[in-house]
Order: sequence, then structure tokens, then C-alpha cells
Amino acid sequence: MREVREELPRNGARICLVPTMGALHQGHLSLVDMAKRTSDLVVMSIYVNPTQFGRGEDFGKYPRTLESDARLASERGVDFIFAPADTEMYPEEHLAFVEVEKVSSILEGEFRPTHFKGVTTVVAKLFNIVEPHVAVFGQKDAQQAFIIKKMVRDLNFDVEIIVAPIVREKDGLAMSSRNVYLSPEEREKAAVLYSSLKYAESSLASGKKNLRDIRAEMTEMIAGGSGGKIDYVSFVNPASFEKVEDAGSLDEVLALLAVRFGQTRLIDNMMLKVK
Ligand code: PAJ
Repeated sequence: MREVREELPRNGARICLVPTMGALHQGHLSLVDMAKRTSDLVVMSIYVNPTQFGRGEDFGKYPRTLESDARLASERGVDFIFAPADTEMYPEEHLAFVEVEKVSSILEGEFRPTHFKGVTTVVAKLFNIVEPHVAVFGQKDAQQAFIIKKMVRDLNFDVEIIVAPIVREKDGLAMSSRNVYLSPEEREKAAVLYSSLKYAESSLASGKKNLRDIRAEMTEMIAGGSGGKIDYVSFVNPASFEKVEDAGSLDEVLALLAVRFGQTRLIDNMMLKVK
């Protein structure tokens, strides 16, 4: 990758990195579209990063489909794919890590305590290896995108971060590489995540402000019929990622949730306008 990067023009042409773990779907490919709109050359990384998986998580069974990923990516206009092996990314005992404090320990971080440390470390490594001008992330992982932006600001990475909207299935389920784990019944029931977010959206649009009440309704929708087990349903101020209980003075709140269906853990979120 470094040899390729040396050949690429440093001035003029904008180089965009799209970091992924592969098992590409239309959500990932929409990031490529965004990358192509903003840049001249698109590098996609495909790497199932071991350091962001906790003990007992799905690192071993995470889908790995490099051949079809490479085809999909190049059909969509990716110029280079960087798909390193673990032995290249972590060749020896790894002792240096990048951590964004506070916001990495709430929400996803509460349930996956070492997750974001692994994400920020591998993304910092990818930025140093690829040296992109721009990198595109998905709003699907809203907390991840917030944390990466904070890392870039706090550590002076010279990379512009673009966040692309969530791509959903017809019934509203956010596309995810993990959706393939769902049984047909679970897959059908998982649409409740989107409907609960839409419910919150219309509640706030109609002038409701008490987020505790809205959360209780969402919890009922999800836990009531679908058999989904809730890790969290939360509302944050999108500017700070601080939790909010009352939409009172804000123009927008970000609703986030994580729900388990059987062994499969799904996350979703929606930006909600406050009336
Ligand atoms: P991965 O889960 O493969 O996601 C790669 C990128 O695709 C992320 O920025 C994610 O937010 C985005 N994405 C996933 N599903 C999406 C959807 N339905 N709509 C829009 N964007 C979507 O996130 C990671 O990998 C890793 O943590 C990574 C950043 C690559 C570091 O290892």
C-alpha cells in the first residue's frame, strides 16, 4: 500500500479512504459513491480488525468474502483495495493504542468496553498507511463516526471526515454485514428497530419533549412483540454525544439503540427534529 501510495500524486488529486471490514452491501457501496463525488481516487480498506472485537464476540464467524467484495468494489469505482493480513497489521506484540476518552465508554462502549479503542487504533493506522485527504464513514455507526471526528480533531490528523447517510432495506432495517446471522423470523422482527425510531421521530415532530416517555414506548414496541433484548435505547445531543432526557432546548436529538435478536446484536439510530 505504501508503494502504491508513493506513486499517487500528492498535490492536486484528492485521495479518499473508505474503511470497511468487507462483506460489502449497498451501505458500504453508498460510501464509495460519496467518496467518488468528493475525490479523484478511492482506496477501500477491507480488514476484519481483531482488536475491535471483544472476548466472546463474532470475530471468528464474521463473514469474509474478499473475492466478491473486490468485484463489487471495483464495479462501483474503487481504484485500490487494501486488504492486509493480521500479520501485516499486527506483526508483533502491539503496545501503542489510540483512545478517545469518555464518549468511548458510553452506549456501545458500555456493552463493548474495548471496542472503540480497537477502532480508533486501526483507523489511525489506516490513515498513516494510506495518507488519504478524505475518509468516508457511515452514519449507521453514529458513535463511531463521532469518535473518529474527535480523534482527528484532537490529534491533528490532516484528513477530512465525511459521514454518509444510513442505507436501509425496504422494511427499514439498516443494512449490516451482521444481518446475515438473522434467522428468517428474526429478520422479519428486526424491522421493529426502524419502526420504533420512526415512532420517536413522529412523537418529537408532534411536540412531545419528554424523552423518558418516548423511550418507554419504544422499549415496549421492541421488547413487547419482537423478542428483541434491548441493550440500550438512548437519546443524545448530536453535538456533544451527551445523554439527554428532555428535548427541551435542542433543535435535534439523536436516538440510538442496540438490540439483540438471538445471538445477533443490531444497532441503529436516527436524527430527530424537535418541534
Ligand atoms: P464496517 O462495519 O464494515 O462498516 C464500514 C463502514 O460502512 C462504516 O463507516 C459504517 O458506518 C458504514 N456502513 C455500514 N452499514 C451502513 C449502512 N447501512 N448505511 C451506511 N453506511 C453503512 O465500521 C467498520 O466496518 C469498522 O469499525 C471500521 C471503521 C472499518 C474499522 O475497523
